[in-house]
Amino acid sequence: MKSLDHFLETAVRAAREAGKIQKRNLGKVHTIRFKGEINLVTEVDKECEEKIVKIIGKGYPDHDFLTEESGAFNRPSEFKWIIDPLDGTTNYAHGYPLFCVSIGLEHRGKMVLGVVYEPNMDQLFVGVKGRGAFLNGKRIRVSEISSLKRALLVTGFSYNVKTTTDNNLGHFKNFILSAQAVRRDGVAAIDLCYVACGRYDGFWERDLWPWDTAAASLILKEAGGKVTMFNGGPVDIYGKEIAASNGKIHTEMLKVLKRR
Ligand code: IPD
Ligand code: CA
Ligand code: CA
Repeated sequence: MKSLDHFLETAVRAAREAGKIQKRNLGKVHTIRFKGEINLVTEVDKECEEKIVKIIGKGYPDHDFLTEESGAFNRPSEFKWIIDPLDGTTNYAHGYPLFCVSIGLEHRGKMVLGVVYEPNMDQLFVGVKGRGAFLNGKRIRVSEISSLKRALLVTGFSYNVKTTTDNNLGHFKNFILSAQAVRRDGVAAIDLCYVACGRYDGFWERDLWPWDTAAASLILKEAGGKVTMFNGGPVDIYGKEIAASNGKIHTEMLKVLKRR
């Protein structure tokens, strides 16, 4: 694809601009609106999304978009930008400094580009289909850990945790008892990128949205990782569950996910 470099440059520029907004406003959130009992949105989510859509839309006015705060634009295009303007909103609203911008590009239904920018530590994760994954320009690879009992895992709990019985608490307990340790960072895109660069060995979560996983799951695959549904089938970013790992502990993780 001829313009992939151009798409990448635009996505990185948009992510960095949104990251600046996030850094500038950290600890100064004024307006919190509740989309659900524990699902919140701040003025910073909105401002970041407007900035990203403006920058990308200026470069590619015909492209389609799917964004967390505005939903589907439904434009008839081969290209769809999938955007989480601020992943980790709960962290952000509490001044907890782990959050990011996530921008993915889908071409004819397949992810071709992923950019995840974590402004607080200035970490830019990039994945380009067929070209590899990078952290601040340096190639990244998944870890070599080959058994679950030596693995550091991460997970998350979706906003329906209090209202569904499929709330991940069973899996959480099972992994706590079988892995070396389990973390909960509150930023799905970063969770996946940290598997991509070997800081974590595996991640699983259910009831995620395409904007949570689109960019980072491509980054992870390009870093040599494995991403599937809980049953081991091919992952679908619209499918709302994800089991992700360095590949070496994947079968063991899926076995645990089969248990209740
Ligand atoms: C959330 C975070 C969190 C995950 C939730 C997501 P948001 O996204 O990624 O880690 O556990 O399921 O919804 O709302 O902060 O963009
Ligand atoms: Ca999110
Ligand atoms: Ca978000």
